[in-house]
Amino acid sequence: MINDSRVPSLHVHLAWWGLRRFTLDDAYFQWQREVLSPDEIATLHRQVEQKRRGSSIDEVAFYDATAHSNILPVLYSQRYDYYLAIGQRVVDRIGAARSILDVGCGVGILTTFYAKQYPNKTFVGIDRSPISIARAQEQAVALGLTNVRFECVELDQASPAGSYDVIIATHALLQAEQDPGLPSRSWKTFERASVSQPQAAFEQRTGIGPRLDRLRVLLAVGGRMILFEKTRQLARRIPWQRALAARGFGLIEQPELIRYRLVEEVADDGPFYLLGMREACQFHWDEAPELDEGPLFDRVKLKTASPDSGEPLYENHWPSAQTVWEQLRAKQLLKGTTKQEPDDRQLHVELGQAEEGVYLYCANTEDQRQLVLVEPASRAILEVYYQDIVSSSP
Ligand SMILES: C[S@@+](CC[C@H](N)C(=O)[O-])C[C@H]1O[C@@H](n2cnc3c(N)ncnc32)[C@H](O)[C@@H]1O
Repeated sequence: MINDSRVPSLHVHLAWWGLRRFTLDDAYFQWQREVLSPDEIATLHRQVEQKRRGSSIDEVAFYDATAHSNILPVLYSQRYDYYLAIGQRVVDRIGAARSILDVGCGVGILTTFYAKQYPNKTFVGIDRSPISIARAQEQAVALGLTNVRFECVELDQASPAGSYDVIIATHALLQAEQDPGLPSRSWKTFERASVSQPQAAFEQRTGIGPRLDRLRVLLAVGGRMILFEKTRQLARRIPWQRALAARGFGLIEQPELIRYRLVEEVADDGPFYLLGMREACQFHWDEAPELDEGPLFDRVKLKTASPDSGEPLYENHWPSAQTVWEQLRAKQLLKGTTKQEPDDRQLHVELGQAEEGVYLYCANTEDQRQLVLVEPASRAILEVYYQDIVSSSP
């Protein structure tokens, strides 16, 4: 058990690393300009752009650069609330484990926090960025930690030695943020077909298949995994969960969606998973979309509403738009088209008339839904939107 009066809080830990918490972009960027030279800022921006291209060389170059002592606090301060959201959640789930592996540990900000909380447990942090690992080692020494060590390991090519009771991976295994994921069966549904080929292709091109295979071997009997990746979109969440389930993992607790701030921006991230071997798990994998997000559709209010001219009666850009579209009464299609891409992606757009008004509905196989409802007098606006979407989509 953690004795809160004995251990430094995460705020103290982050301050030790030189991180500051900002809630305003202006204040953050002013500090960035005070600490970094214009050349350093320009180089950093260039590396961020290069990292977006997704090659492992560019990624390592980026993480190497961020580990330098002047850049580290500035860059990682943007993630201050991310650390708050993740740090204690992970600590609370380490439980009775004695050996813990933190995969893709970066400069070790969280790994050293975990190690500090549990001086009697052994922690190993691995990362493929050599400068991040050197920084992590240096900082662990400065913190006086003797229960943590760091190794430079490219998980795509090698595994660290040993066997682990808990494996942690936070924002480390599924980087490929531009990957479209697994498309749904059609624009009408959020379901994914249970076909092995597209799943195998996703696991291979994002690298999660081989990475999970390696981690599975490193996990001790009865071991657990604590995972937090950018898999909020259903098109990523489903193949991610299927990859885990196919390797025998199950849910020890319900996955948790996490929201935190990146200075002024709000990030909807996760889910946060605690996994064990399927036999020891009581919860089922859930592949349903988040239908509780989006504005409420209230027919009574709609009838009495008198919006300013041109303002929509109702607008919904969430998956729940599909349920509302299905509920529209006496729908009549005015025009509609469904575009089919060679890679199975589809985009459907329709303009229609319903009892509630004139509507524009768009749906694609990447789970995007959009419904706009206007009074019949404003139909021309939706005609323009319809044409824009039809002519701009690939
Ligand atoms: C966004 S950082 C996350 C750091 C830390 N886990 C956290 O939650 O703050 C991602 C880290 O994963 C590392 N990484 C990505 N792919 C890796 C791989 N195949 N092998 C080892 N490290 C990897 C990167 O070098 C980078 O340091």
